[in-house]
Amino acid sequence: MKVLVAVASRHAATAEIAERIGAELRESLNEVFPTVQVDVRAIGTIADLDEYDAVLVGSAIYVGRWLKSARHFVAAHAGTLRRRPVWLFSSGPVGEPLAPQLEPPELTALTLACGAREHRLFAGRLRRADLQVGERVAVRAVHAEEGDYRDWDDISGWARQVADELVSNAVVAT
Ligand SMILES: Cc1cc2nc3c(=O)[nH]c(=O)nc-3n(C[C@H](O)[C@H](O)[C@H](O)COP(=O)(O)O)c2cc1C
Repeated sequence: MKVLVAVASRHAATAEIAERIGAELRESLNEVFPTVQVDVRAIGTIADLDEYDAVLVGSAIYVGRWLKSARHFVAAHAGTLRRRPVWLFSSGPVGEPLAPQLEPPELTALTLACGAREHRLFAGRLRRADLQVGERVAVRAVHAEEGDYRDWDDISGWARQVADELVSNAVVAT
């Protein structure tokens, strides 16, 4: 079994979430599929999906939307994705309480287009030192709070749930 975790990230927070999901999937799936391969790749480096049995696609949220590369990736590969189990995830909300707790509006259409089983929204990380000038202005305007709000237990738990579903799928298919 080969699984792809494809990710669009501007300042690495979502890429690190994807790495954690990949590690968790590897460990959980390995018990049932000893030859399992889980690739975690930046979306810009992926040409085709034929070799993968399941795909997870994640993006950071900026100004209410998924990054353009992630939106285009799902739209461009919708046909191939529909024939595989697919999950979507995002990283965005920061602060205490986490805000904004809003799904990007395009996720409804993207979920339908690729037949994703679920979209999961994770808390994100905001480090002022990483930001470009325009981003700093935008962050100040909405009073977004700096900090790392990623919940690694939540992320790992979700990855294990995805692994369980993949195992159940395989059992049903045999
Ligand atoms: C300019 C700017 C705009 C942002 N807009 C949103 C937003 O609309 N919704 C949201 O949930 N998070 C928003 N965030 C928070 C980021 O999505 C969050 O920090 C994320 O974890 C960054 O991921 P990355 O490091 O992979 O790019 C914004 C951050 C910046 C710097």
